[in-house]
Amino acid sequence: MALNTLKTETRGRVAIITLNRPDALNALNSELLGELRETMAKFGDDEKIGAIVLTGSEKAFAAGADIKEMQPLDYVGAYMNDFFEGWSAVANTRKPVIAAVSGYALGGGCELAMMCDIIIASDTAKFGQPEITLGVIPGMGGTQRLTRAIGKAKAMDLCLTGRFMEAEEAERSGLVARVVAADDLMATAIKAAEKIAGFSLPVAMMVKESVNRADEMTLAEGLRFERRLFHSLFATEDQKEGMGAFVEKRKAQFKHR
Ligand code: HXC
Repeated sequence: MALNTLKTETRGRVAIITLNRPDALNALNSELLGELRETMAKFGDDEKIGAIVLTGSEKAFAAGADIKEMQPLDYVGAYMNDFFEGWSAVANTRKPVIAAVSGYALGGGCELAMMCDIIIASDTAKFGQPEITLGVIPGMGGTQRLTRAIGKAKAMDLCLTGRFMEAEEAERSGLVARVVAADDLMATAIKAAEKIAGFSLPVAMMVKESVNRADEMTLAEGLRFERRLFHSLFATEDQKEGMGAFVEKRKAQFKHR
């Protein structure tokens, strides 16, 4: 499939997806959504891929949903199309996804980063939910995932004032896992993805599934869910290999990777 809005490459077991609408600071339009859904599904189905890195340009991870595309929408059209529902498929990618964020991650751009599992930011990154300045509210998780990530005080501050948060504050607040120098961003993200992709893929996928349940379940239900997954892993060859390798003081060679 020829891609207009993305670039993709693979490095061993890591897939790299680069948002590529430079003239619009990677604003997220329907074409990009369609291509991203297809690409995520393709790498999701590819047994040779163990982790995905999603990135943008140096200036912008993504400056939000495409305002020019949204401007003419009316209520009935937005409601009937369940506008933005398509992004759920991206959020539901089952393999681990690292967002490597440089520059602006605003509105839908911040929300897209939050759909990923780990955000690694360059020291130039700026996060924000400026929808209020456009007369709307966040529509892809900005009031929900952001609040879970950084708490009510900061989420209210960002969503109500529309101000941008620098990388250092984003890391301090719990939105971002690591901040690195801009020049080191891709190398760091790819190295982390390679590390993940070197483990058993079903185990990494279960980690993702279980951590994500923490946002959706009570603690008691979440602990039970985690324990059941944990029990199930004793039926896998990779548990035998992982623990066997430790006992035998050698490096594990996981089968399902
Ligand atoms: C469409 C966008 C865009 C966007 C930038 N561009 N952001 N186009 N949608 N979200 C376009 C500009 O129109 C311009 O195109 C080009 O990209 C370069 O942008 P500039 O503004 O000239 O760059 P700069 O001066 O460096 O400012 C960068 C910026 C600013 C601060 C990021 O572009 C900006 O504020 N963008 C909008 C950010 C935003 O509000 N995001 C939230 C969107 S709403 P031309 O053709 O003029 O060169 C959202 C969710 C909505 O995401 C949920 C509703 C339900």
